[in-house]
Amino acid sequence: MSFRTQPPAPARSCRCQLFGPGSRPELFARMAASAADAVTIDLEDSVAPDDKARARANAIAAIGTVDWGRRTLGVRINGLDSPWWYRDVVDLLEQGGERLDVIVIPKAGSAADIYAVDALATAVEAATGRSRRIAFDAIIETAAGITRVAEIAAASPRLEALTLGAADFAASMGMQTTGIGGTQDGYYMVRDGQRYWADPWHWPSAALVAACRMHGLLPLDGPFGDIADTEGFLAQARRAATLGMAGKWAIHPAQVALANQVFTPSAAQVAEARAIIAAMEEARAAGRGAAVHGGRMIDIASIRQAEVVLRQADRAAE
Ligand code: COA
Ligand code: MG
Repeated sequence: MSFRTQPPAPARSCRCQLFGPGSRPELFARMAASAADAVTIDLEDSVAPDDKARARANAIAAIGTVDWGRRTLGVRINGLDSPWWYRDVVDLLEQGGERLDVIVIPKAGSAADIYAVDALATAVEAATGRSRRIAFDAIIETAAGITRVAEIAAASPRLEALTLGAADFAASMGMQTTGIGGTQDGYYMVRDGQRYWADPWHWPSAALVAACRMHGLLPLDGPFGDIADTEGFLAQARRAATLGMAGKWAIHPAQVALANQVFTPSAAQVAEARAIIAAMEEARAAGRGAAVHGGRMIDIASIRQAEVVLRQADRAAE
């Protein structure tokens, strides 16, 4: 047990983060009108190399002209292994206007990657007199990123969230699958002739959540590729929520309501959390630290668990 208290994550709601390619500006108004807590215009892997400059210009124009409401507005820049990323940062901060909340950094592989973008952003902000400090989200989607996830989480005070990106993660790890998130055909065990599927994303998800919680960042689950598979999306999102993730990306409008549903505690979950806190207050009044509630042991740790659910519900209601 450390005497240091765990820092709280940023108080921003991010149950769903909807992505759209910067090369399809006709989607921006639709993204802005969606029920997603956060929207991100992509300049990276959903934009073809010949479209990079145009997508960047589209994003810059949209930041100040589209009504994004109160939702968190981000742009995903190109990776640090590309020739495009520095101009993404410079042009977004010089020309994009103050409405831009977040730069999303893909394929973060070390704290130095975040430091490099921080150094550039700091210089551009100082030169332009931008009054709001831009925040960073980073995507953990490589073997290097997951190996150094705790170091990355501590890399900059600008960081607010880390996302596990399943497709690039699978490629980097050499995983034998072309699926983006969710159940993978080959990942099963056999018992008495029956197959039982397990979760190949469990380890990186849990490692990312731990790094985020240690450093006060929001852990997010990345894309789920099979747009038509509603049950599969819900199962992936529920596993992520159960592991401590604060939200999930959507790559299609059909996924937004599903993510919002999973990352908003249900009325029954809220009622149960309140009942636990009430039962513990009764126990405390009787001079006890532990009690039985609905046949199950509860103690002071149960209050902390219940408070997590109530905080999530409060944030979702904002
Ligand atoms: N945001 C907002 N609206 C979107 C959207 C998005 N990401 N994706 C699709 N739509 C709109 C379409 O324009 C269409 O609108 P319409 O009915 O008014 O014509 C409607 O939703 C249905 O779209 P659909 O025809 O099913 O999809 P599509 O074939 O046009 O596009 C994808 C499918 C996957 C190419 C597209 O959803 C997409 O580019 N998603 C984001 C990809 C991305 O950003 N990847 C990087 C992060 S992993
Ligand atoms: Mg990726």
